[in-house]
Amino acid sequence: MSDTLFIQNGMIYIDGRIARKNILVENGSIKKIFVGKAVADEKINASDMLVLPGSIDPHVHFREPGLTHKEDFRTGSFAAAAGGVTSVLDMPNTKPPTLTRKLLAEKISLAASKSIVDFGFHFGSSADNLQEVEKARDIASTKIFMDASTGNMLIQDEDIVSKIIGASRICTIHAEGRNARKAIEISEKLKKKFYLCHVSTQNELEYVKENGGKNVFAEVTPHHLFLIETDQSKLIRMKPSLKNESDRRALWDSLNAGLIDTIGSDHAPHTIEEKDSGDVYGVPGVETRLPLMLDAVNKRRLTLRRLVETMCENPAKIFRLKNKGFIKKGYDADFVIVDMKAQKKIRNDEMRTKCGWSPFDGFEVRGWPVKTIVRGKIVFDDGDVMKNKGRGIVYG
Ligand code: DOR
Ligand code: ZN
Ligand code: ZN
Repeated sequence: MSDTLFIQNGMIYIDGRIARKNILVENGSIKKIFVGKAVADEKINASDMLVLPGSIDPHVHFREPGLTHKEDFRTGSFAAAAGGVTSVLDMPNTKPPTLTRKLLAEKISLAASKSIVDFGFHFGSSADNLQEVEKARDIASTKIFMDASTGNMLIQDEDIVSKIIGASRICTIHAEGRNARKAIEISEKLKKKFYLCHVSTQNELEYVKENGGKNVFAEVTPHHLFLIETDQSKLIRMKPSLKNESDRRALWDSLNAGLIDTIGSDHAPHTIEEKDSGDVYGVPGVETRLPLMLDAVNKRRLTLRRLVETMCENPAKIFRLKNKGFIKKGYDADFVIVDMKAQKKIRNDEMRTKCGWSPFDGFEVRGWPVKTIVRGKIVFDDGDVMKNKGRGIVYG
């Protein structure tokens, strides 16, 4: 018995263009994109709506295991679904950090039992887990922290960084300022390409530009695109920190010019009490990333094409997520159906993240996801989050 879904009358994003077509989904995959009718178990009328590939957030901290008072795979995936995100790649700075294949396997089974969206993992690295890094399979990347942040995963020794890059298929690196340059130099020597997390300054963009994109993929976060250091309160504190207006403009220019490859939320939830009482860094963002960028498309600060490249296609390509990121025959039926005219304020009390707040509280945004679909199953429907069994990413 096959399970079918028919999405009708939508404006479908295919190959960089919008086409008014219908999509037939069978058993979680895209079976046919066409003009015409079909019989199906379930139908969605998407007239006046944009149908985009489900968004992929390549950078989230869902805090399992060990820090589940901030977030867990259930609440994190609810927030993702509400934000039009159908796959997430989760970071290893949990408690304990994901430094062994055994710990990775435990994390995968936790996510499999709780997540309503699909999920993959960045493996952790330390001064002495090289053998684990070499043998780790079915991961998006190896994460290296070249600057201190949440969790004690800092690696300062360049030899060790070099060995980890050498032992990995691809590394995802938190490296700020001069450390970003160091990471680029090391990867140039090794002739390996890496993923530079959350670029935030003009200098970092210069380093990326000098390299001509040969050895580096660059990510930017919505908080660095929309907020600056004067917005800084204890709540809105993160690593890398917010920068000034000219840095912020340079990020937008580079995003539009194609120097930046992806938009990752760096969803890093902490409770309000933790933020108030001490030095904790990070802000939640998986739920607001797509609405904020849709608003930017409405305001003509970004093309829809760049949005889809940086939020759907490139994360899938860079991390080799099989059958994800595109609306194409045979691909997973992961979609976000968007109402570009819907206007609403982001509000702390409507956030699904367990931490219950957003650095964008009060922002008026036009362009919102109305339905999120993971492999043919609706996981978010007009404000409601639905039950579903998310699956581990298959890597190509
Ligand atoms: O602000 C941050 N928070 N930066 C990071 O690199 C980690 C993150 C976290 O996990 O809280
Ligand atoms: Zn980071
Ligand atoms: Zn992060």
